[in-house]
Amino acid sequence: MQSYRAAKDVLRKYDQEHVLAFFEELSSQDQNTLLEQISQIDFEQLDRVIRSQVFSTQGFALPANLQPAAMLPAQPKDEETLRLYQQAKAKGQELIAQGKVAAMVVAGGDGTRLGFAGPKGCLPVTPLKRKPLFAVFAEQVLAASARYGASVPWYVMTSPTNDAATREYFAQKKFFGLEERDVFFFVQGQAPTLSREGKMLLADKNMIATNPDGHGGSLTALRRSGALEDMARRGCEIISYFQVDNPLVHCLDPLFIGLHALKGAEMSAKALPKREPMEKLGNFCLVEGKVHVIEYSDLPEEMARATRPDGKLLFSAGSIAIHTFSRSFVERLTEGGACKLPFHRAIKKVAHVGPTGAKVQPDQPNALKFEMFVFDALPLANNVVILETQRSEEFSPVKNATGDDSIATCLHDQIRRAARWLSSAKVNVPRDADGRPAAAIEISPLYALDEEQLAQKLPKDFAIKAGQEVFLG
Ligand code: UTP
Repeated sequence: MQSYRAAKDVLRKYDQEHVLAFFEELSSQDQNTLLEQISQIDFEQLDRVIRSQVFSTQGFALPANLQPAAMLPAQPKDEETLRLYQQAKAKGQELIAQGKVAAMVVAGGDGTRLGFAGPKGCLPVTPLKRKPLFAVFAEQVLAASARYGASVPWYVMTSPTNDAATREYFAQKKFFGLEERDVFFFVQGQAPTLSREGKMLLADKNMIATNPDGHGGSLTALRRSGALEDMARRGCEIISYFQVDNPLVHCLDPLFIGLHALKGAEMSAKALPKREPMEKLGNFCLVEGKVHVIEYSDLPEEMARATRPDGKLLFSAGSIAIHTFSRSFVERLTEGGACKLPFHRAIKKVAHVGPTGAKVQPDQPNALKFEMFVFDALPLANNVVILETQRSEEFSPVKNATGDDSIATCLHDQIRRAARWLSSAKVNVPRDADGRPAAAIEISPLYALDEEQLAQKLPKDFAIKAGQEVFLG
């Protein structure tokens, strides 16, 4: 651990000595906690962030020559693409069967908008069995392992706030049937929370205020935690990345994985055609041949609304945070433990200890939080595949307690997808006057991972009545 003197020297160098203001009042244990925390901070990086994001008044600069990025269609539209997709799917299946693919979920967010007590992955989410988000993903990993005859390890990123609760939950649920050795928890990094003047805030007299360093922090956390080494030991070459809040995601999609591999991509992304020009999704763009995601708030409205000759949006590809990474790419990006992604700043209300030692409860945003975004790795990748997917098939995140992107909308979307899979398996699904399914349907990933598997498995005489609750598991 760092000595008091060494801590003071480094703090003085970076003009952050105020965090030792109450040091003399602390018990020796609390003093050690604070010194330990100071020793963990990368002050050079912090200094760069302060110079570029606190003292500099320059906001986001839109790159010149912004072009829309091309995406591969959800459904092949010609023979050549059809052949490519068949090959890619076979390749993806082969890679999973060879144990070369790992699943990864980022579950370190605070989930402030949802306001659920506990890790978001424990939120009951399925329509009938009320299975939690973690169970939905675990069952997909289990089902894929069984289908392709290989164990698929699952890397679960937590945060210091929810790590213990997440591990306990998995243990309590007996890892949802997965082998414990195939689940690897790793904790994401933290970034100091700053005052608007660029000073570190104290959460307590013995503790610097920090915030999770964003989903982009997952890449350095993979390196720091030994997860990358674990993947190498197991022979995993491709990481299938998803967020904790979207139960419709296909955690291990052979087509997506196969396209990534066949095209020699280092990082890939799934995309949705935006519902309307101003939809709050990041925009896939090309800048000097590199793929960038430009946040919806950074794309000027006239560009967001621009159309092609066929009337479709020019910038139509929206980012939904589903990716594949080559392990070698993550190794390269995190070489030496340093992070190559930029920090983004957000202004938030943060309670803290003021200069007199009293707690300050601000009523206005007072603090700067810095986060990395995983999509900022895209321009650093040598090859990128962007694959369009369908919203109704793969995207319905639970972000809010009510309204858009809430548990209510997600329940409907899960039922609607299940009904669609059944209809395409030639089951007559009862519907109401508005065309909505008139039965509550839940299909466990253990029963079918996709509509093809469902069609193969369903008994010939399978039927549904209006008002029925149907669970296929
Ligand atoms: P969101 O951007 O929706 O943030 O995260 P959030 O923290 O879950 O929710 P709010 O904004 O506080 O309401 C998208 C995904 O990225 C993960 C989240 O767990 C979620 O899966 N994430 C986000 C992290 O793992 N770490 C972070 O620091 C931030």
